[in-house]
Amino acid sequence: MDRWDQEHGAASAEGPVARIMYASQASIRHSVYQEMEKIRASALKHNEPAGIATALLHQSGWFVQWKEGPAAAVQKIMERVAGDVRHFDLRIVHRSRGPRLLTGPWSMAIVQCQETTADMELRVQQLKQQVDDGLQFSPPAVWRRLSTPMRHPGAMRQQDPDAFQRVLVCGASGMGSFDMVRWLAEENEVEVVHRRFAGAIELDVGTDYVDFEQEGRVWRVIAMARHGLHLPLTRAFIPDYSHVVLLLSVDAERNEQLMQRVLRAYEFLNHPPALIGVASRADMHALPAALARRYGLPYLTAVADSRDPEASWAEVQPLLMHWQQAANSSVISGNSRMLVGQ
Ligand SMILES: Cc1cc2nc3c(=O)[nH]c(=O)nc-3n(C[C@H](O)[C@H](O)[C@H](O)COP(=O)(O)O)c2cc1C
Repeated sequence: MDRWDQEHGAASAEGPVARIMYASQASIRHSVYQEMEKIRASALKHNEPAGIATALLHQSGWFVQWKEGPAAAVQKIMERVAGDVRHFDLRIVHRSRGPRLLTGPWSMAIVQCQETTADMELRVQQLKQQVDDGLQFSPPAVWRRLSTPMRHPGAMRQQDPDAFQRVLVCGASGMGSFDMVRWLAEENEVEVVHRRFAGAIELDVGTDYVDFEQEGRVWRVIAMARHGLHLPLTRAFIPDYSHVVLLLSVDAERNEQLMQRVLRAYEFLNHPPALIGVASRADMHALPAALARRYGLPYLTAVADSRDPEASWAEVQPLLMHWQQAANSSVISGNSRMLVGQ
C-alpha cells in the first residue's frame, strides 16, 4: 500500500471529502500535452500534500477537471486555478460530499476527436442546465457525459440514453483487447474512439472503445492496456462495468500477473464487476478461477482462442447477456434524484 492509499484510501480513517468538477475553455491551442505535463508538476507539488486528488481532461478545446479532498484545501486550489490564463469561462458542473473515488493524486486524459469547441460547449450547457434543474450525477457520470457521451441511435431511443451496458476487456499479453474492439467496430460498422490516459508516474496508456447495438441491447466495449488498470481514472470507472473480460495467455505467469493487477484495481469495491476469463483450454482457467475464488469474486469461463476476436466474442456475449441488474440504477437521495453510475 503506498502513502496515498494509507492516508486517503478506503481503509484509512478519512471521512467523506468535497468533490468538485468544472469545465473551462482552454486558451492554449498548441502543445497541449506538454502544457498538461506542466500542470501535472504543479498539481503534484501543491495538491498531494493538501490531500487533493485530481483528474484533468482536455477535449475539443475544453478542460474538465475533477477534484476531491478536504473542502478548505479544494477551495484554495480552485481559487488559484481559476486565475490561470491558460483557461477561461470556468463553469462548475458538479459539487458533492462523499467518498473518494479517485485513488491517486493525479490522472489526465486527452481525447482526440473531430468534435468542435461549440459541440463540447453544448454538452457543458446541457449538463449544467440539468444540474441546475436538480438532477445530480455522480462524478464518473459527469465525466462520461462531457467526455464520452453515448450517441448510438439505439441508446437515443431509450428513455434514458445513458442506460447502456459497459464491458471492459483486458489482455494478459499482446493487443488482443484492442483487436476485439476493432473487430466489433468493423462488424457493426461503427467507429472506434481512441483516448489517452496518464497517471502521476505511469506512462501514457491508450484505451479504445466502441458503441453498438446487438441482441436488442446497447453496448460499450472498452479495451484497456494492462498497466492502465492502476490509473486512478480507470479505477474510478470500474464499478460501472457489468463485466471485465480477461483474454488469457498460454503463459500462466502472465495470467497471474493480470489477475494481480485486477485484484489491486478491485480493492475495496463494494460491487466488483464479474470476471470472464477467455482461454483456449478449460484447464487454463484453474489458476485465475482459484485466485478469484480466494477473493470472493465471480469468475465465469469462456473457452475460445483469446487471440481470435470473433471466436472470443461468440463465447463471451451469451455470458454478458445474463447480466440481471439494470445498466443504471436510479436511487432517490434526499430531495434530488441521484443517477448512479451513468
Ligand atoms: C486547467 C488547469 C488545471 C490546473 N490544475 C491545477 C491543480 O490541480 N493544482 C495546481 O497546483 N495547479 C493547477 N493548475 C496550475 C495553476 O493554475 C498554477 O499555474 C500553479 O498551481 C502554479 O504553481 P507553480 O508555479 O508552483 O507550479 C491548473 C491549471 C490549469 C489551466
